[in-house]
Amino acid sequence: MIKAENLHKYFGPIKALQGVTVEVPEGLTLVLGPNGGGKSTFMKVALGLYKPTKGSVRLLGKDPWKSPEARKSVGVAFDPGRFPKLTTGREWLEFIARGRGAGDEDVEKAAGLFGIEDALDRRIEGYSSGMLKRLSLAQAFVGEPEVIFLDEPLANVDFESVAEIVEIIKKWKAGGRSFIIISHIWEPFENIADFGVVISGGKVYLAGPFAEIKGEVEAMFRPPALDNE
Ligand SMILES: Nc1ncnc2c1ncn2[C@@H]1O[C@H](COP(=O)(O)OP(=O)(O)O)[C@@H](O)[C@H]1O
Ligand SMILES: [Mg+2]
Repeated sequence: MIKAENLHKYFGPIKALQGVTVEVPEGLTLVLGPNGGGKSTFMKVALGLYKPTKGSVRLLGKDPWKSPEARKSVGVAFDPGRFPKLTTGREWLEFIARGRGAGDEDVEKAAGLFGIEDALDRRIEGYSSGMLKRLSLAQAFVGEPEVIFLDEPLANVDFESVAEIVEIIKKWKAGGRSFIIISHIWEPFENIADFGVVISGGKVYLAGPFAEIKGEVEAMFRPPALDNE
């Protein structure tokens, strides 16, 4: 689904990606790694939002920087979600939907999925942080794209909403959608993740079927148990 070869992305002197080579299959992929490691940059290059400095990336077999078709098949929620504040939720989602060849009824559907249908005609500046998160998720799901990128979908989300969001993702994955999820809170996804990629220092530190790398991932990101003796 994503094929990156020797992918580099520099921002002036900052080398955010320094030779990422990885093949991400269909299904649900978790992207993990330390802060500043290059995860969000990788996502943005794979989406076609950033042009690679060097190397290549294919999304659904196409160059995402050049291919409008590739972009139409993809939904994204950025972290943190940012929106034009005087705009209503409906205006924003309809704007995203039109860009994706989807209709106004898709907006109702996506808003309903995340429980913000009653807030759609209010200005986004009045949304609570929980509603902003739901709006950014609805943005990613609107029009039912084939591939959905979620950058930190569980950050600053209350306990019940975590279960609700994970359940929606699980259902859509069962329906054949693919997910690329960057998440520090990865435990809720461990049973539905097909593939995992650990990006650190702008490089792929570890990649493979999640079941196979889970042990190593746990050792890396779970704090060691406290020894009480
Ligand atoms: N647009 C940008 N301009 C300058 N530096 C950036 C930009 N985007 C990311 N960076 C830098 O690139 C590095 C990787 O960032 P990022 O991909 O956001 O990491 P992660 O998502 O893993 O936390 C960091 O040092 C970050 O500050
Ligand atoms: Mg990030």
